[in-house]
Amino acid sequence: MTFIPPRLVIGTGDSDLAMVQAAHVASLLEPLEVAQAEQDTSDGPHFLQLDIETDDIRALPEAGYAVVTCRLVFAFIKDKAAFLDRIRYLLPPGGTFWVVIPLAERFPEERKSIGISPQYAELLTASWSSAYREDLDTLRCYALRP
Ligand SMILES: C[S@@+](CC[C@H](N)C(=O)[O-])C[C@H]1O[C@@H](n2cnc3c(N)ncnc32)[C@H](O)[C@@H]1O
Repeated sequence: MTFIPPRLVIGTGDSDLAMVQAAHVASLLEPLEVAQAEQDTSDGPHFLQLDIETDDIRALPEAGYAVVTCRLVFAFIKDKAAFLDRIRYLLPPGGTFWVVIPLAERFPEERKSIGISPQYAELLTASWSSAYREDLDTLRCYALRP
């Protein structure tokens, strides 16, 4: 049997359940009620109604995750340094934090605010043993390793 390391998705919004199952996601967290609504689906991933900034991350079903992802979430995080410390707590050595952010300069004027500033990009990528970056159309993807 193949071992699939646990994966965590932060700020899932109303993610497509079939997609997260195909990606072998173990846990999803989202502060909005959408998480609670999905909680009842029996053998799929754990949906938790949880705020990554303010709630107790020890409530997560796994002590650590090989892959933690967040897509279009980083801009909404208030205390970004504390958030990154929480992610590092959840990642074992060799794990990966996969972050997707909008490329502000490729977004229409009215949506530019959900991009991140060069200062926050610097904060995001500092303090990892490796930081790999790839731009895909209007999005920038980072693979960050502790
Ligand atoms: C723009 S949506 C992106 C949703 C989804 N990741 C996507 O790519 O379509 C941002 C999401 O981040 C969630 N979010 C914002 N702050 C959060 C926090 N502190 N903890 C967990 N999720 C958060 C919001 O509730 C929202 O669902």
